Order: sequence, then structure tokens, then C-alpha cells
Amino acid sequence: MSDSSPIARSLRIAVIGTGYVGLVSAACLAHIGHHVTAVDSDAGKVHALQRGAIPIYEAGLQPLVAAQARDGRLSFTDSTADAVHGADLVFIAVGTPPDAHGAADLRALMQAVEDIAVSIVHPLAVVIKSTVPVGTSDAARAALRGALARRGIDWEVPVLSNPEFLREGTATEDFLNPARILIGARTAQEAGVLKQVYEPLTRRGVPLLVMSPRSAELSKYAANTMLAARISFINEIADIAQATGADIEEVREGLGSDPRIGPAFLKAGIGYGGSCFPKDVSSLRHAARGLGVPTDVLAAVERVNERHRHWPVERLAQAYGGRAALRGLRVAVWGLAFKPGTDDLREAASLVVLRELIDAGATVAAYDPVAMRNAVAAVPAHARLEWRASAADALTDANVLVLLTEWREFIDFPPERVAEQLKDALVIDGRNALPTARWEAAGLQVHQVGRPVGDAHPSVPVMPWRDAGDPRARPAAAAGTS
Ligand SMILES: NC(=O)c1ccc[n+]([C@@H]2O[C@H](COP(=O)([O-])OP(=O)(O)OC[C@H]3O[C@@H](n4cnc5c(N)ncnc54)[C@H](O)[C@@H]3O)[C@@H](O)[C@H]2O)c1
Repeated sequence: MSDSSPIARSLRIAVIGTGYVGLVSAACLAHIGHHVTAVDSDAGKVHALQRGAIPIYEAGLQPLVAAQARDGRLSFTDSTADAVHGADLVFIAVGTPPDAHGAADLRALMQAVEDIAVSIVHPLAVVIKSTVPVGTSDAARAALRGALARRGIDWEVPVLSNPEFLREGTATEDFLNPARILIGARTAQEAGVLKQVYEPLTRRGVPLLVMSPRSAELSKYAANTMLAARISFINEIADIAQATGADIEEVREGLGSDPRIGPAFLKAGIGYGGSCFPKDVSSLRHAARGLGVPTDVLAAVERVNERHRHWPVERLAQAYGGRAALRGLRVAVWGLAFKPGTDDLREAASLVVLRELIDAGATVAAYDPVAMRNAVAAVPAHARLEWRASAADALTDANVLVLLTEWREFIDFPPERVAEQLKDALVIDGRNALPTARWEAAGLQVHQVGRPVGDAHPSVPVMPWRDAGDPRARPAAAAGTS
């Protein structure tokens, strides 16, 4: 992580919310030289942070937080009043999850605004870092004005928009080396304080764009929905590849090497998940619907994504000759987090796949390198669901392996050991991540999204051993392991 030379002016910053965005922002703002107090309404989380424990898994975050706390630039409290006291500006980084209708639930955000309103004792600026519907900064500004008026205070508290683009798994790097910083401000003067905050980054050449708060808010949604759209687009092309005998990985190269298109977010698989893309597509659609604006593209993006979450179990059912044949099957599942580098399970495809496998009568032995604790909390216990301690452990007695998160340790796992363990030598790779040539050479049949399987052309091959009575009684000759 690159360190910065002395900061022009160190600001006193409060950050409300110590989740993925709040904690990373607080630690990184301290790292670039500011004095940060981070506040969370979850007292347990705050106490853990005060003891040096990090409640989330995020590469590089633990040492960063520890160093900033040790140097006295980062502290934690459960009192918004304490955090706001003496602050030059307050970042709001609380969650904006989807409500029952798919809109952004702004209750935590408006609560944070209220908490600020009762705590303010001197002029400061408020910055919304959470992803919020267009117009929220203006609404928060009006709410603050009203609350302060009731306290007999007549300052105008600027509410700026500063959407965050970090990605879980590479969050600190993304925060400190962003492609751009967006500031939504009503006037150049109001934008000034945020320019000071980010001066250590802009000095290194990071572009900073100032626009209206509404444009900044919409830019964040436009960015996330565009990336989600690319994933659904390539998944739809993968479906066509599957039906025609083309290989989506070759198509991806052909497509992504066009400089007008580029390769990012064009990986076929079981779709996007996590705490951002699903809720942001849904929230933008909901807001547009309220304005009478059609969102045909976004509707299709959601439909394709939903379809692809079912791909692993559908492919298994095809391979075994129907869903009924999945009853009694023992399935090793590798990966539960919505992507590698995080323990976040929000909207993870694994939640859909585990439920579908159990509903189909299969027994699941699941393992993830970091998300086990969250998984145990998020997935209801079931007699046919086993949490396993390692990738190898999950394979014990399994018929088939399903890969749902492309953690490095899975990609590097010796396929010979997988082949020794799996009774049916069948691997369903929902992330097109495994090196197929090596795995096939070990005697495994590897199914990937939008790709031919082995020599099979053009559609889904039937397992060679399937006709031998019991669909799971694979003849030894087909095992390819001994
Ligand atoms: N997670 C990401 O990768 C990511 C990336 C970019 C933007 N965002 C956006 O950032 C926002 C935060 O996301 P997150 O994933 O960090 O959320 P999160 O759920 O991990 O964390 C939110 C935190 O805010 C705390 N909180 C809620 N109300 C509070 C209050 N009134 N006072 C103090 N603390 C309060 C909660 O206890 C929780 O710890 C969301 O709008 C999200 O869309 C997230």
C-alpha cells in the first residue's frame, strides 16, 4: 500500500457505520492523514473494534486498522454525539438494503441524519457515502434543516454526495487508488471540503469530478447496473454458446479484446450477487417505475441473473437424467461467499444452490475458506447440510463437486485428489474457473457455463455411466481414477 507524503491539512472526520464501506473508509481516511472517529449503533461491533478485532473479512484491513488505531488517528465509539463533536465533516456509510418492494430502505440513513441533527454543536458538512436513490442528499439536507430549526439553529448544513466504488476483496486498494472520485455538491464552495479530504489522492493524479448531488447519486447506480448488465449479457451469450457448440471462453476473448468493449465483467457463470448489484438494479428499477420511466434493459438483466443462479442444479439434473435422480446424491460444495476475497454472503448464489440441492433430496457438504461463520448464521440448519472444515474434507464420500466461488485454493487444488474422492468423477464449475485440461486429464468430467464438455458437441452430454441401472452406480471403468 503506497504511503502518502505529509497531508496539506488534516481534517477531523466522523464516519457513521462500520460495515464494509464505513470501516474501510475510516481506516483509509486515517491512513491518508485525517483524524477519524468511526461510530456504529451496534455496540458489540464497536467493542470488538476497540479491542482490535475486525468483524468482517477483508484482505489488508486488519493491519491497516491496527496501525491507524495505534497511531491515534482512528478510534471507535457507539455514540454519534461523541463522533460528531469537533468533526469538520461526517460521512454516512450505513446500509441501504432493499425493502420488501425492491426499493432502497433508507431508514438507517435517515436515522443517521437524525442522530447528526441532535448532535451538531458547530457548523460542519455531511457526506453521503452510502448508495442512495437520486434526491436523497437533497432530502437529507431538508431533514437536517428542519431538525436544526427545531433546535433554534439556522445554519445551512451542506449535504454532499460522495458515492463509493470500492469492491469487497480489494476494498482498501480500491479506496486508496480509485479510478475516480465523484463529488456531488451544490456549489464549488461546498465541494471544497471534500477536495481537501481527498487531496492526498488527487495529488497523486486520481481524477476528481464535481457534479450535482443528483448526478453523483445516479452515476453510482449507472455504474453498478452497467456492470451487472455486462454479466447478464455475457451469460445470455453463454446460453447461446451452449446451444450452438461455441465456447464462451473463446467468445469472451474475441469480444473483450475489442478496445471499445474491454474484458472486464465479461465472465460467464452463475451471475452476480453480493450486497450491491442485486439491490442497486432493483432500487433503480423501483425508482424509475415511480417516475413512469420504463427499464426494459434492467428488467432483462435481473431475469438473466436469476436464471443463471439455477444453472448448477439444472446442469446436475441434466447430467443425472432428471431432478429425481439427485435424491440421495452427496454433493461437495466449494465456495459460499458471493465472490473470493470476502466473507459476505448477501445475495450469494450459494444460498440458492444449497436450498435447491437440499430440496431435491441431495446431501450437501459445504466449505468456504472464510465465510463459514456467516454461512452457519445465514443458512437454516438441515439434516442433509454439513459444514466441512476444509476443501478436502468436503469431498469425502461425495458423488460430485460443485464450485460456486473461485477462491485460489480451489483453483490450485490437485485434481488428482478430487478424482480419488469423487464417486462420479463429475465437477460442476459455476465460475468457469478451473483449468479444465488438467482436471480432465485427471479423469474428471468438468462442466462449465457456456462451454462444451470434453468432446461433447454441441449440447449437454449425458454422463457415460448413466444408463447402468442406478444412475449413481458409476462403473469403475468410467472413474478414470485408478
Ligand atoms: N459493500 C460494498 O462493497 C459496497 C460498495 C460500495 C458502496 N456500498 C454502499 O455503502 C453502503 C454501506 O454498505 P455496507 O456493505 O458497508 O453496509 P453494512 O451493512 O456492512 O454496514 C452498515 C453498518 O452501519 C451500521 N449502522 C446502521 N445504522 C446506523 C446508525 N444510525 N448509526 C451508526 N451505525 C449505523 C450498522 O450497524 C452496520 O455496521 C450501502 O449503501 C452500500 O450500497 C457498499
